[in-house]
Amino acid sequence: MARRIKIAPSILSARFDRLGEQVVEATKAGADMLHIDIMDGHFVPNLTMGPAVVQSIRPLTKVPFDAHLMVTRPQELVKAFADAGVDDLTVHVESEHDVSTTLKRIVDAGVKPGLVINPATPFEKVAPYLADVDLLLVMTVHPGFAGQAFREDVVPKIREARAYIDREELDCELQVDGGIKVDTAPIVAAAGADILVSGSGIFPDRIGENLRAIRTAAEKALKPRR
Ligand code: DX5
Ligand code: ZN
Repeated sequence: MARRIKIAPSILSARFDRLGEQVVEATKAGADMLHIDIMDGHFVPNLTMGPAVVQSIRPLTKVPFDAHLMVTRPQELVKAFADAGVDDLTVHVESEHDVSTTLKRIVDAGVKPGLVINPATPFEKVAPYLADVDLLLVMTVHPGFAGQAFREDVVPKIREARAYIDREELDCELQVDGGIKVDTAPIVAAAGADILVSGSGIFPDRIGENLRAIRTAAEKALKPRR
C-alpha cells in the first residue's frame, strides 16, 4: 500500500477579509490540518497573526491546527497559543531558546511538540531532539513569506530526515513547507515527506481543486512500500 500523504494548507495565503470562509472551504476540501504561520517581525521580517486570530477561527472546524512559530522567543508564546486552541506547536531550532525546555513546556501545555529546521541548518542540529517531538518540519524556503520558490537543494536533507526517522523507528511525522505546488509535491513525497504544507499553491482561489491536485500529484510519486 502506498503511504497516504497529508495536506496542510497554510492560511497565510488565504484572503484575510474572508478568512473564516476560506478555512471552511479548505476543511471541506479535505485538508488534514491547517497550517498557521506565526511571525513576530523579528525572527523573520514579517508580522502575521496572533492567538486572537487562532481563537476566532477555532470554532469553524475540527481539523487540527498546526502552528508554525517563526518567532525569536517561542518559549514565551506557548501558553497563549495552547489556550487559543492549537493542536501542535512547531518551534525553530534556530530560535533563541533551550529547545528541550521549550518542547517540555509545549507538552505540559497539552499540545503536540514539533521542531523546524531552516534550509541553511544541517540535519544534525535537530537529530538529538527527534525522539521528543511528534513532528519535524523541514523548510524548503527561508521562512518569512509565502510564494517563494522551492529550494531543490534541501531535498537531500528531507531524505536524510526520512532515513533517520525510519532507522530509529521514531514516532515523528515529516513535514515539508515552502514552495509546494503540483510540480514540487512529487519531489518531496518521493523524498519521504508525510505532510505537505502549501500556501500559495492552495489559496486563495479554487482551494478544493488545488488541494486535490497537490495530493494526487504527491501520491502518484510514491512507490508502494513493501
Ligand atoms: C513561509 C511559511 C510557509 C508559507 C508557505 O515562511 O512558513 O508556511 O506560508 O507558503 P508557500 O506554500 O506559498 O511557499
Ligand atoms: Zn509555515
